Amino acid sequence: MPQQKAVPGFSKLTAEEKIRWLRDTFDLPDEYISDIHAHLHNDPRLQELYGEFSENTISNFFIPYGLAPNFLINGKWYVVPFAIEESSVVAAASQAAKFWSAHGGFKAEVADAVKVGQVHFYWTGNREWLSDLFPGIKDDLTGSLLPLTRSMEKRGGGILDMQLLDKTGDLDNYYQIFVKFRTANAMGANFINSVLEALAKNLKEHVDKKAAADNIPGAMEISMAILSNYTPECVVKVSVEAGVETMDKFSGELTGMQFAEKFVRATEIARCDTYRAVTHNKGIFNGMDGVVIATGNDFRAVEACGHAYAARNNKYSSLSHAEINGSIFHFELETAMAVGTVGGLTTGHPLARTSLKILQEPDAEELMMVIAAAGLANNFSAVRSLITSGIQQGHMKMHLTNILRQLGADENQKKEALEYFSNKTVSFADVKKFLAK
Ligand code: MEV
Repeated sequence: MPQQKAVPGFSKLTAEEKIRWLRDTFDLPDEYISDIHAHLHNDPRLQELYGEFSENTISNFFIPYGLAPNFLINGKWYVVPFAIEESSVVAAASQAAKFWSAHGGFKAEVADAVKVGQVHFYWTGNREWLSDLFPGIKDDLTGSLLPLTRSMEKRGGGILDMQLLDKTGDLDNYYQIFVKFRTANAMGANFINSVLEALAKNLKEHVDKKAAADNIPGAMEISMAILSNYTPECVVKVSVEAGVETMDKFSGELTGMQFAEKFVRATEIARCDTYRAVTHNKGIFNGMDGVVIATGNDFRAVEACGHAYAARNNKYSSLSHAEINGSIFHFELETAMAVGTVGGLTTGHPLARTSLKILQEPDAEELMMVIAAAGLANNFSAVRSLITSGIQQGHMKMHLTNILRQLGADENQKKEALEYFSNKTVSFADVKKFLAK
């Protein structure tokens, strides 16, 4: 392979030139180049659209887009779209949704929808002078932001509150303007960041001017102005409950009560053990991310926020919780997230727009509830499998089905293979051998 070296002007090359460069630099065989081409959209208009979502695009990376029907949330039926590459997730969500729909469905609520932004800055002068100054300039600062906030205010959003925080205990000379926002049905990143950048500029002007007028020694330096993806006041809660006897069906060996008790203990392990909590929450995000991606929302932001929320009591813990009250099994999830149903990819990506249509054009809070319900559904299915048959059985069945499809097995061969491998480890080579026989 030729020595790789710095590539000046790479972004200026066309997609085809980039592909040729790849082929030559990495000696890529033709089949790799064909795969890159085969994944381009054959509608040039759509390819241009997808290509422009990112930079240096040379192809598209597909992940399956599927549907989980039978979600009953607050008495309303939903078909939930998922964009996810992991097998079993959509099936698990659908199964759990169907089961819970027969038991009243998911009850969900959004506690609040407050977003957060921060202007981080250094001030080397007198601390009291700064804290005395801030209340007097706060209204001026908010007023100067009106050109940016007016249209959001018309939609019910805008700036809720602005505070000066003295962070000098954490870092020398470090202060913050901590701003709370409402952003209506937008996730709000662009709005918040534009407001914060203008705020930072206005703040520095005010502080510099007043310090000069008061003859106060000290320098102010803006470090950065950016939203926080941690939104602990933008919280969604979702729960399901049913009589323990309804759990009888989940394991031939366990009674409904035994199953429910085992389930509760499994969630307690996830509450107190970080290693388990991370995997438990990963199972929740299997469902949540699928819907977040399918609706064109930012799954990195939702993940980062959810994990920080899971650690809000100074220990990383489970986002869900189960309990038995008398003869009632109760299972709930509470997490924080910021998502939108307008703006960004939610309307710019054709399939995100389709997803929102399938979800009957929810507002941002309703979408939070659907996302959380998908998380709880997947968590329920995962823990249910873990405490009964284990997850490999279901996974392996899917894996086997995929291998059989790849090998072109007919219906009869599929049936025989499923039976033969029902108690055996599945590998590509063994399935191939089985079919050859
Ligand atoms: C696999 O993607 C997710 C699980 O590991 C979640 C869990 O362990 O709860 C099955």
